Amino acid sequence: MADTIIDGKAVAARVRAAAALRARALRDAGIEPGLAVVLVGDDPASGAYVTMKERDCDEVGIRSFDTRLPSDTTQETLEGIIDAFNEDPAVHGILLQLPIPRHLDTESAIARISPEKDVDGFHPVSIGRMVRGLPAAHACTPEGVMELLRACDIDPAGKRAVVVGRSVLVGKPMALLLIEANATVTVCHSRTVDLPGVCREADILVAAIGRPGMIDETYVKPGAIVIDVGINRVGDRLVGDVAFDRVAPIASAITPVPGGVGPMTRAILMANTVAAAEAAVESK
Ligand code: GUN
Repeated sequence: MADTIIDGKAVAARVRAAAALRARALRDAGIEPGLAVVLVGDDPASGAYVTMKERDCDEVGIRSFDTRLPSDTTQETLEGIIDAFNEDPAVHGILLQLPIPRHLDTESAIARISPEKDVDGFHPVSIGRMVRGLPAAHACTPEGVMELLRACDIDPAGKRAVVVGRSVLVGKPMALLLIEANATVTVCHSRTVDLPGVCREADILVAAIGRPGMIDETYVKPGAIVIDVGINRVGDRLVGDVAFDRVAPIASAITPVPGGVGPMTRAILMANTVAAAEAAVESK
């Protein structure tokens, strides 16, 4: 069995506690960090996620400004709401919950968010800064993975990292963060030839594909660190992209689903929001 089952819940609680300390220092200086979450439509999973974010904000000491819009909201209305949050000095971070209904233009809406209020790291300016190795908000899930590695004293420098999945939300920013941490990074996707063989080269294997249990022991080098970003609903269960029971016996460290990467995403959002509030204070 893996020496380490990485406890994302515990690490996320520590990240929230650290963010809470910083939020308290801001409040003591008269600034209450504020996070605006914009949700369009009635997708139950997104709704539940936003409710959990509100709870996290309460715990950390961040004021929530949540807007739930009907699924027939127009682009103009959505962008008007984003503009209002951009202008509001009490709001330090803006998050547009994705996905938004298909009639809306996601790219345009994300680009409308002021880059300094982009706590999701999805704005083109944030991504561009990250590519250039400049300070920027990092996308919450990949940054959560980096935090898990740090919490386990795993230094990616010099290691072979393989990221399976090239999404703009996870795979691409994950690869960039691992490069910044001096890993040698390969990004795989649906057209990769001999995916199991490439994955077996990984010292750190990150699965972000969205296919339940696809990564089994034939994809994993013994002793590898396996990070499962997948959250797939199978019946009434949540399962990852990694076949945990088959991979855990040969990995040196592995994240479970649930309780691995999942809790980190919201915790990093809290940290990013506090950081945006600190930056707003500094730029005054
Ligand atoms: N939908 C699923 N994950 C995320 C996320 O990290 N940020 C946003 N904005 N929407 C999401």
